[in-house]
Amino acid sequence: MTRRKRILVATGGGDCPGLNAVLRAIVKKATGQYNWEVLGSIDAFNGVLSEPMQLKVLDLPTVSGIHVRGGTIIGTTNRGGPFRWPVRRSDGTWGAEDRSDELIRRLQYQGIEAVINIGGDGSQRISQALFEKGLNIIGVPKTIDNDLSATDFTFGYQTALEVATDAVDKLVTTAESHNRMMVLEVMGRDAGWIALGAAIAGGADIVLIPEIPYSIESVMRKIDDRFRSGRGFVILVVAEGAMPAGGDVVATQSEEFGYHNRMLGGVGRFLVGQVKQLMPEVEARVTVLGHLQRGGSPCAFDRILATQFGVAAVDLITEQKFGYMVASDYPRIVALPIKEAIASYHYVEHDHPLVHTARGLGICLGD
Ligand code: F6P
Repeated sequence: MTRRKRILVATGGGDCPGLNAVLRAIVKKATGQYNWEVLGSIDAFNGVLSEPMQLKVLDLPTVSGIHVRGGTIIGTTNRGGPFRWPVRRSDGTWGAEDRSDELIRRLQYQGIEAVINIGGDGSQRISQALFEKGLNIIGVPKTIDNDLSATDFTFGYQTALEVATDAVDKLVTTAESHNRMMVLEVMGRDAGWIALGAAIAGGADIVLIPEIPYSIESVMRKIDDRFRSGRGFVILVVAEGAMPAGGDVVATQSEEFGYHNRMLGGVGRFLVGQVKQLMPEVEARVTVLGHLQRGGSPCAFDRILATQFGVAAVDLITEQKFGYMVASDYPRIVALPIKEAIASYHYVEHDHPLVHTARGLGICLGD
């Protein structure tokens, strides 16, 4: 009897609405159509490296109906990973060890013929490094920040944008009742897509994004303008990675060992401090939307895109196109080398049509 082909999937980095829809699509195509066996590694590749290994069989009953659920049923992490596995040194401090060769050996031992790695920029760098070591790997991009340049869209972005827009809508009604300035801090580490989209969709007065360092004078002019008529209110949307011209982001160093990023957060409060110094009479409140943007059920657009990516990833395995990542070249789903995909970010260009639209509406971008 011939053994069934066995593949492994992993979800890495921050979670994102649509991950479960990708998993379901992979299993439906790989198991339903080809009768392959699909295993999920728990918490990115950490499941393969754990003792004992933590692998979950993903069959049709397991993935039934999960496309509507946020998060990932196989867990994820943005700490550790095969190239930087955390190890406790004899003096009690933490260090990191490269366990990538061992990961590949363990996968061979399990009879895994191909791997699909679903993740953002950091995860796809791991995919590329493992591919260069000989692993048959396919990448599937994900991030709510929409900051990967190789794909028109990443799933999760539209859902996050809906959450942020809904928050703007709600802040408008309370802002106008109290004549207040409401600051909404949204995610967007390097790129301001969520902030810019929500500002246009929700009708904000000011939007500050990482790509356009702001001047507080410009922000103050807009605030003054809005309050000059007597009653008035201000809606300001700021991406967590926004910064003043000549300044830096508001961030803290994470205490969590192996956490790869600086922990952003606090720019909204910082801005209110700046505004209050110059205009103490302004009543201001800050809402930090945080992980609400990453949770919950994916919207229809994200479910469809995630499902397309899952099916396309299995197609790439049948075509033996390893070292490739699926991407959206709307309306087509395409594939390109992971190496190219991670070469540059998808920033909001200063002349992007959405920037033009925002300026056309009189939204202040802080410059
Ligand atoms: O990359 C997506 C993102 O949502 C960033 O905008 C944010 O800074 C980061 O994840 C926070 O991730 P976590 O809290 O999981 O470390």
